[in-house]
Order: sequence, then C-alpha cells, then structure tokens
Amino acid sequence: MTTDGRPNGHAGGNGQPPKPLHSPLGLLAELTHRCPLGCPYCSNPLEMDKRESELDAAAWARVFREAAALGVLQVHLSGGEPASRRDLVDIMAAACDAGLYTNLITSGVGVTEERLRELVDAGLDHVQISIQDSEPKSADLIAGYAGAYARKRALAAAVAALKLPLTVNIVIHRANITRIDELVAMALDMGASRVEIAHVQYYGWALKNRAALMPTRQQVEDAVGRIEPLRKQHHGRIVIDAVVPDYYARFPKPCVGGWGRRSLNVTPAGRVLPCHAAESIPGLEFWSVKDHSLREIWERNPAFNAFRGTAFLPEPCRSCERREIDFGGCRCQAFALTGDARAADPVCHLSPHHHVVERQAAIQEDAAYVYRRL
Ligand code: SF4
Ligand code: FES
Repeated sequence: MTTDGRPNGHAGGNGQPPKPLHSPLGLLAELTHRCPLGCPYCSNPLEMDKRESELDAAAWARVFREAAALGVLQVHLSGGEPASRRDLVDIMAAACDAGLYTNLITSGVGVTEERLRELVDAGLDHVQISIQDSEPKSADLIAGYAGAYARKRALAAAVAALKLPLTVNIVIHRANITRIDELVAMALDMGASRVEIAHVQYYGWALKNRAALMPTRQQVEDAVGRIEPLRKQHHGRIVIDAVVPDYYARFPKPCVGGWGRRSLNVTPAGRVLPCHAAESIPGLEFWSVKDHSLREIWERNPAFNAFRGTAFLPEPCRSCERREIDFGGCRCQAFALTGDARAADPVCHLSPHHHVVERQAAIQEDAAYVYRRL
C-alpha cells in the first residue's frame, strides 16, 4: 500500500515491478441514453439504460465531488442527448460546484437558446456539437431525424453569440468521407475553434452497420491526404483533430489512453466503466456508484484491473516495443473481432487475427442503416 492507503497499482508486465495507479483526468457522464436522433454508429450500448434507472441530480453531484477528489479535472456531460434531462441545469451547476471544467456534448437537438443561457449561468465552460454532414439532406438522413441539421446550426450560432468555445464533432464514414474540405469549412462557418474528425469505431450499433458505413481504402487515403493541407490553410483559425480509421491503420490506437488509466465513464444508471463499450465484454462485473465510492471503484473493481497496464497481454504484444504506447489497442475491439478481450487488437498488422480486419474492411454494402433507437 502507498502511504495514503491506496493500492500500489497494477502489475508492470515482463516481470517489472508494479506501477503506481494513475489518477483519472476525465469523466464521461452519460446522463441519459434517451436521444431524439438515431445515428447508426452511436456509441451507446445495444442494451440501453431506461429513464427510470437514471441517477438523479443529487447522485450526480456526489459523483462529481468524488471525481474531483480523485483527480478528475474535466467532465463531459453526454448521453444520449443530455438535454433530454429536465434537470440538466442542476447537474451542470453541481459539476461546476465540484470545481470541474465542464464540456457539454450535445446533438444540438433539444437545447434551446434560453436553456443554453441557463447552462452558461450555471457555469458551462465548453460546448461540443456533433454534426453528421455538411449537406443538410445527408446529415438528416444519417441522424435519422428531419430538421436535425438546421437545429444544430441554430445552436452553434447561439453558442458563438455567447462567445463560448465550440468544438464541432464529425464522425466520418462512407456517406461523408469525400467531403473533408466542406466539413472543415462548415465547422469554421459554425464558429468552432476546433473540429474533431474521427472515423466510426466499429462497436455496438456501428458493428451492426459496418458494411453500410465502411469506406473504401482509396476514400480513406484521399481523406487522410486532405488533413495536412487543410491544417496549413486554416492555421490559427481552427484546430483540426483527425483520427485515422482503425481498419485501415497499421497500428491500433491506445484506446481511452489505456484501460483504467486516464478516464472513466459513468452510465445513466450509475455503473462505472473504463470505456463506453466495456459492457460488450462478457464476464466483467462493473460496480455502481450506488454501492461504492468512485475511488473504491477506480482502485478496487476487478473489472478495472482486468486489463490495466500491459501484464495481461499475450504475444505479439508481450515482447513488442509499442506495448507501453498503445497498450495492445482496444479491448472491446479485440473481443468483438477475436472473442478474446486480452488479444492484440486485430487492427495491428502484427496481430495473428489481422486478416479478420482486412476481410471486413473489404465488405461495403449499400444497405439501409439500422438506426439506434431506445
Ligand atoms: Fe501494439 Fe501489440 Fe501491435 Fe505491438 S503487437 S503494435 S503492442 S497491438
Ligand atoms: Fe473499450 Fe476501446 S472501446 S477499450
């Protein structure tokens, strides 16, 4: 044990001594799974928490205080659509009272100008609006909601008028990947200081729609090739963050910065997860803030320790020099594609299962989307 009573941390791997436990820096608060949109790549689980099971504002206030005491600096208020919560302003105020930097991640549907002002009065620091495409018709089709594009643009205008920092979040797939220039231009026009362009991650709903969402290799290469020129062109006006699509990468990403290392998610019903898709891995029991403090969960929940560090990794990761960089990739993807959550993420070209990714990436079908619905 350390002098303040905390456990020493997780096994270091390759016979190394235990490593000290990091503090989490960010907390994703999934306030509700309710959402008016139906994006076919939604990161919410297939089995969503019902309204009746959602934590109330007082419980969230306790979670935020415990998070701040644990070292969390930033809370992302998300969902579903967080504005589906009538008590969103109270929850926002509680996050600010706890001393956390607050980021509202919203679909833009359901946040009126008046509510936005109330949220700002409660202490809102930053807004992140997801938008599906730069073409209104396509954007509405992807969102599964007529008029979504117009409402997102209206909210962005209100955010800009209040001089709040704005990030625009765009998920890329076959229907919009050819419009990288237009998407960045749209984010600039919306008044964003940052745009996140990230390819669909194939878990949960996106896995159901994988063939309908998968771009071709040529499309991906063209899109990736546009990022640097756009960064140069708009330098000083907007920050462009881009994530290369997993299925076409050589190495995996260090998903969530490493399992149980830097961030945690709290589901609407209060279960605490190392990542949004963690419940897709069977056999793990995720503790709830209804029964445990956040610190207890972070330090002692066996599900958090299951894939902490690198000691659990088999070959080829075990002897790979990148294992402390990417932690063997994404546990949820490893499970989804190999049935073994400990395996090297098959996205890695060194994985013995890499052929699965190559085979799936080659399948593109113009099927209708399976929309995410509660
Ligand atoms: Fe990362 Fe494992 Fe691939 Fe090495 S072998 S690059 S640690 S996934
Ligand atoms: Fe769960 Fe990557 S989404 S570890």
